[in-house]
This record gives sequence, C-alpha cells and structure tokens, in this order.
Amino acid sequence: MRKRIVAGNWKMYKTVPEATELAAAIAAAAPKDGAGEIVVCPPFTNLTAVAEAIKGSVVRLGAQNMHWEEKGAFTGEIAADMLKSAGCQYVILGHSERRQYFGETDAMVNKKIKRALTAGLNPIVCVGETLDQRKAGITESVVGDQVRGCFADIGAEQAKTLVIAYEPVWAIGTGVTATSEQAQEVHHFIRALLAELYSESVAQTVRIQYGGSMKPDNAAQLLAQPDIDGGLIGGASLDAKSFLQIVTA
Ligand code: PGA
Repeated sequence: MRKRIVAGNWKMYKTVPEATELAAAIAAAAPKDGAGEIVVCPPFTNLTAVAEAIKGSVVRLGAQNMHWEEKGAFTGEIAADMLKSAGCQYVILGHSERRQYFGETDAMVNKKIKRALTAGLNPIVCVGETLDQRKAGITESVVGDQVRGCFADIGAEQAKTLVIAYEPVWAIGTGVTATSEQAQEVHHFIRALLAELYSESVAQTVRIQYGGSMKPDNAAQLLAQPDIDGGLIGGASLDAKSFLQIVTA
C-alpha cells in the first residue's frame, strides 16, 4: 500500500513572517494519524523559518528547485546539501514553470534528480503536457518521453524512492482541473511505463501525485482514483484551511 503524499507548492509567494504563520497554522492542525505524508515547499528564503515552525509536527519540508552541481560558482543557485542542511526532505524538480520560463529540460532534471538522491533528498519529479499537446493527441508520448528522460540511468531501488507529480500544464493555476478520469488515465499510463522500464514492483511502489487546480471541492474525487496517490497543490496550499481540507480528503 503506497503512503499518500500531499505537498504544497508555495511558488513565489509569502514573506518570512507570512510563511512562518502559514506553516505554524498547518502544523498545528495537521492530522497526526500518519495515514499520509504532508509536505510544504516554501521559497528558499523561508526554509529555515518554516523548518522551525513545523518542528515536532508531522509536516515535512521541501524546496521548489535546486542546482545539479554539488557546489561552485553558480551565482543565484542553491545546492542540494544546502537544502538538506536547512531541513528539507523533499525537492520539487522539473516543475512546468521551470521548464517553461527557465528552459529546464529532461536532461537537466535528470542531473538534478541524481544530485538530490546523492544528498539524501527525495525528488518530486513533475511531468505534464500542454493544452496543444493534449489536443494533438500526443499526451502519452510527451509524458512518456519526460518520464524516460528524467529517469535515465536511475537504478530501480532509487527509482522507488521518487515521487512523480503529473501536472497537465493547462490545469495549473487556471482553475481548470483534469477530470478524475483524464488524470487516472495518465497516472495509469505512467505506472505501466514504470513497469516496462523497471518492474512491476517499482511501478507499484512509486507514488504519483496529481497537480493542477486541485481544490477542496475536487480533491476527494481525484484521490479516489486507484493510481492517484496524492496531490501537488499550488494556489490552494497558500491558505491553511483549504490545504488541510485537501489533506483530509
Ligand atoms: P495549482 O498549481 O494548484 O495552483 O494549479 C499546482 C502546481 O503548479 O504545482
């Protein structure tokens, strides 16, 4: 049985005081029954304050990006060890906004995944098609290429520790959610691909989150699908109440 995982992607929102308040509110009200994992991914500047605010709670810390090199002259970048030492257990990699606005490719995401694993961070690897690609009927080939590229040369035991977030680009921040059937179809496709690339045991172990306008009123239906193991939440994670409603769902 895969442990569910709901992660909040705070994107470029919240100052240090705002982030501290939100994290404390989530930590105080988060269900402690251990049925699933709860992760918050604030901007870099808030990591240490949020780590402090969630201390002793069930909430875990993640970052939104990192560089693939161990260290060096890369002005403005952040290394995996830095995230780890700030208290992160997770890191989102290859988010569609990174791909779209900052030119991230599957090859770069692949290097980042390898570095994150070396540093002891658990990557949340994002994949997803654009609206044009869906309309052209090439969703599976696009998502399949992304999974193959991101997972290149990653061994089976390491692959098992990765979380995949399927986020159709047309559903991110738009208020348009994939129907639970559309989402389940792609999640099932990804799981079948993992079975082909690795084994049935890897396919049944990797957790696949859905992301893209997941809200309290549609979360339960999406999460009821057999291959949807959680959510990566943007907008609705910026408010403690709505994020926790999704966690409860
Ligand atoms: P959204 O963002 O929930 O605001 O659509 C999801 C994401 O980008 O991870």
